[in-house]
Amino acid sequence: MRYTTILFDLDGTLTRSEEGITRSALYACERMGLAGHTAQEFRRFIGPPLLDSFRTVLGMSEAEAAQAVAFYRERFSAVGWKENEVYAGIPALLRSLKKNGARIAIATGKPVEFARRIAEHFGLAPVLDAVIGPRPGDERADKSEIVARAARELGGVPVMVGDRRFDIEGARACGVPAIGVLYGYGSEEELLAAGATQIARSVGELSDLLLGDAPRARGVFLTMEGMDGCGKTTQREALVDHLRARGWEVLVTREPGGDEIAEKIRDLLLDPQNRAMCDECEAYLYAAGRAQNVRALIWPALSRGEMVVCDRFVDSSVAYQGGGRRLGAERIAALNEMAVDGETPDATIYLRMEPQQALSRRLSASAPDRLESERAEFFERAFRTYESRLMGQARTLVIDAAQPIEDVTRDMLAALDARLCELAARV
Ligand code: TYD
Repeated sequence: MRYTTILFDLDGTLTRSEEGITRSALYACERMGLAGHTAQEFRRFIGPPLLDSFRTVLGMSEAEAAQAVAFYRERFSAVGWKENEVYAGIPALLRSLKKNGARIAIATGKPVEFARRIAEHFGLAPVLDAVIGPRPGDERADKSEIVARAARELGGVPVMVGDRRFDIEGARACGVPAIGVLYGYGSEEELLAAGATQIARSVGELSDLLLGDAPRARGVFLTMEGMDGCGKTTQREALVDHLRARGWEVLVTREPGGDEIAEKIRDLLLDPQNRAMCDECEAYLYAAGRAQNVRALIWPALSRGEMVVCDRFVDSSVAYQGGGRRLGAERIAALNEMAVDGETPDATIYLRMEPQQALSRRLSASAPDRLESERAEFFERAFRTYESRLMGQARTLVIDAAQPIEDVTRDMLAALDARLCELAARV
């Protein structure tokens, strides 16, 4: 890699922060007694120092602008900082940079405590070596001081990445090359005029510029497990939204199922007409579909650096065929070895619910299919097998799925974020 220290601007470069910034600016205007503005007008507040924007864009005096900034901060620190999302592909880029030994920092004009809070909340913190921005009392620090400080603290061969002229000019003023990105809030003319050494139109182009042919970090493999009726589908949606807001490109797949071939196997398995299917045939079909899903969808997505969320995996076969159908947990695990060829989830979200409760939830939900019309003892055996396979395993995140839906979601996301932190530290 050409550069070994990568300094990123935050707003418009790592995160799409328009909503929080423009709404907080609108709020400040309203508190200043200025009516008739819309949030949209404040897009140009993203990038330059706030004090200057209030003065130049709205013609405020120095004292008025300082008051407006105080009102802005009131809303921004309460809600505005969360009205934000990480650009798609950023976590994969940061992980790849880290894998190749780069040092990474945020170099922002935002007060450092906000920048830190955002980096923590949106899962960026674990791959960062530093967050550098104006400290309390030094709000007027300009971008070149920030960039110079970051380059000094981190050492190596630095480059600044930013979306507005302030980032580029700040870097150039202290002799640091600067890549301008066009997916944020600045234009190509603006960035070239400011002295950008290179331009990236997308996060993909930025990754190519920074990484060249250096190896990319592998993605993260998550699986979800639980008894039928545990609320897995609802929680999966919340999980995927959470990950996408944090910039992950997410491949969602489910088993039985996957690509066209694996979906045909799913149809065979779940068709109520196939009542005569023997248990061994069923076990092989699940494993066959899985072999296909792993090769057609899961591995390619992991090698692209994506997050894979797989609804059910080997653990389901071990629980349902091994325990439920009494084929034996070890035998089913062995039968799946060739299918997965060593692939093990980085984390398994186990939505834990007693089988009686899961059964009663499920029966009220939809018409039973072939598997679902099995007897309660079948589910009891599957649950016991899940328990002995998953509880106490390092990869398992045990979530109490018997709580109200929002509480399950909260616990699941907290456990997942903690696990992603651990995983990021090991790329
Ligand atoms: P599905 O309709 O996808 O249910 P759910 O939303 O609960 O996942 O059906 C999947 C069914 O297949 C479910 O009852 C569990 C069962 N199953 C197995 O028996 N073995 C397996 O290996 C897998 C993946 C699923």
